[in-house]
Amino acid sequence: MDVINVGSLNLDFVYQVDHFAVPGETQSARQFDLHIGGKGLNQSIALARAGLNVAHVGAIGSDGNILLNALKEDDVDTTFVHFSEKRSGHAIIQVVKSGQNAIIIQGGANQTLTPEQLEDALNHFRPKALVLQNETNLMKETLLLAKQRGLKIFYNPAPLIPDTKKFPLHVVDVLIVNEIEAEALTSEVGPEKQLHALRKHCHPKTLCVLTMGSEGVWVLESDTPRHFDAYPVEKVVDTTGAGDTFIGFFMAGLLHGMPLDKAVKQGMKAASICITRAGAAASIPSSIEY
Ligand code: RIB
Repeated sequence: MDVINVGSLNLDFVYQVDHFAVPGETQSARQFDLHIGGKGLNQSIALARAGLNVAHVGAIGSDGNILLNALKEDDVDTTFVHFSEKRSGHAIIQVVKSGQNAIIIQGGANQTLTPEQLEDALNHFRPKALVLQNETNLMKETLLLAKQRGLKIFYNPAPLIPDTKKFPLHVVDVLIVNEIEAEALTSEVGPEKQLHALRKHCHPKTLCVLTMGSEGVWVLESDTPRHFDAYPVEKVVDTTGAGDTFIGFFMAGLLHGMPLDKAVKQGMKAASICITRAGAAASIPSSIEY
């Protein structure tokens, strides 16, 4: 197994709106769609479509078969996707005409993982790498268990939660954040300062990656941050899942032994395709079109 992803699985309730709802307002959505999502599920599907063998560790409720089936369709191993008594996690997503989104999540079953389930999965697969976000419980424990086993650890602390700074970030090999997370974690302004501050929370060798949507991607590998321009996109439809798509294809590039530049560009190219269509997992490019 190449990668274990300990991650969320969400039902995404997506509302096309004229503008993001403001306090006290009731607004009629122009359109509603139910999509599959969750940062975890999206990243597993992106990793699989980018050519890696992936096992997903997570939990769903009795309403979550659609999520399980979506992983299976992409050949993601679901042996350790558990059924919980709670409902599956879900997200309420507003999307405006420019394709920008605003998301509220409710953890549900995503928050019911046990340490035994994590250990069983790690012992069973013996993967090379692990990826983790902030939508499940036991983040700290997951990071430490992965470190004990010598895995290459990719951490995407999204959405940012106040405890993130207290996690053992020194074990992280690759940290991937967006502008909002970078600002909240560092209280610095500007990508270069933010990257240096992020590294101080981690390890001197941690590769820090800052994704900035249409402003491209910044990377701090050695001492000097480097910037990569985003691919031009004619019509942005929905940016949901773009970050997850970047992570899956970028990670796959690194784990396939690509040079950093090439892996970043692969991630950005895949994300630029993702934002031209609606939905999160549904909009991740397949290996054929990529
Ligand atoms: O990153 C996009 C994802 O964030 C959505 O699919 C939603 O479920 C939330 O987890």
